[in-house]
Amino acid sequence: MPQPVIAATGLYVPPHAISNQELVDTFNAYVEGFNAENAAAIAKGNIAALLPSSAEFIEKASGIKSRYVMDKTGILDPEIMRPIIPERPNEQLSVLAEMAVAAAEEAVANWGGRTSDIGAVICAASNMQRPYPAMAVEIQNALGISGFAFDMNVACSSATFGIKAAADFISAGSAKAVLIVNPEICSGHLNFRDRDSHFIFGDVATAIIVAAPELVEAGWTILGARLKTQFSNHIRNNFGFLNRAAPEGIGKPDKLFVQEGRKVYREVVPLVCDLIIAHARDIGLDPHALKRLWLHQANINMNDMIGRKILGRDPRPGENVIILDKFANTSSAGSIIAFHTANGDFAPGERGLICSFGAGYSAGTVFVEKR
Ligand code: COA
Repeated sequence: MPQPVIAATGLYVPPHAISNQELVDTFNAYVEGFNAENAAAIAKGNIAALLPSSAEFIEKASGIKSRYVMDKTGILDPEIMRPIIPERPNEQLSVLAEMAVAAAEEAVANWGGRTSDIGAVICAASNMQRPYPAMAVEIQNALGISGFAFDMNVACSSATFGIKAAADFISAGSAKAVLIVNPEICSGHLNFRDRDSHFIFGDVATAIIVAAPELVEAGWTILGARLKTQFSNHIRNNFGFLNRAAPEGIGKPDKLFVQEGRKVYREVVPLVCDLIIAHARDIGLDPHALKRLWLHQANINMNDMIGRKILGRDPRPGENVIILDKFANTSSAGSIIAFHTANGDFAPGERGLICSFGAGYSAGTVFVEKR
């Protein structure tokens, strides 16, 4: 059976960038205000004083220097500290769909194929703007694509799970080409008042076209795609439609992103390394011979460690692509931004790995070879 091909990718970058220092200045203004307002209770020991954040800590602990967001004015206002994204009328394209469409249009242009050959759209992302109608159906409609469309959420691993689903559709004859979009407004689920995590995420959208080989001139043969999940509470978001049914109301701040960062680090690195090594072995591929790694972008130290284990040595500059310095963690889009921005120098026959990992836990590996 002919192997499905990654035909092209696209990227939409939001209009605003926020540096670590800007984020920290807002956080520390909020902390000062909180501590002043609660000085008496803090002095009595009834509540703990909040601690300030630091740009140096953020860069050292995570590798993040900056991030893009859909709205920076709300995020940087100490009185607000969340993005301001006005609701749109139902007749207008949703903001999440608009980002996805922009990335998809770039992917289609890079592919050079026809949207009429696309038979399915998968919106694979961490946070959908609404439960239904599916974001993917709105995006399909905006792009004039026929066939079927659906949403899927496997948190940071959504893109590789989408690629695997698309490849399987093509192998099974369900579609000749599939569009996968990963619109991420991570600033919407980030608690900008939480010192441990306020710096982690950014917004972005990526798009991927997976197609039957006869529809693609060059592209990337998918040598193998493999998925893995293992339940964990260490990255969690309890936002959902049953929140309004809970007698205690919205209650705890866990309706936004929460994590046990150290535990995630310790548990996810071995899970991912084992998956990559076993998958490479099973398809007869030497991971030491890969030209490039396009890993999920959450933490520089995590990526350095996985890179060393997989390549069996310290990666040379550019071999283990890092984009989180500019984009922060963009959830499902991270490994696709890395792939999109750093694959232009591959000769036919050279191989690389797209790999995602995150909440669930979940992880996905996609080994590709330049055609
Ligand atoms: N500014 C300054 N200091 C801070 C801080 C901040 N914003 N946040 C935490 N600190 C301090 C802590 O208070 C702690 O101080 P102490 O040692 O005196 O107690 C110290 O820094 C270390 O905190 P810790 O939370 O252990 O930091 P870390 O080195 O584990 O880095 C993460 C935090 C989140 C960057 C890191 O754990 C991580 O990225 N883990 C993986 C997360 C991941 O991949 N998640 C997937 C999401 S999809």
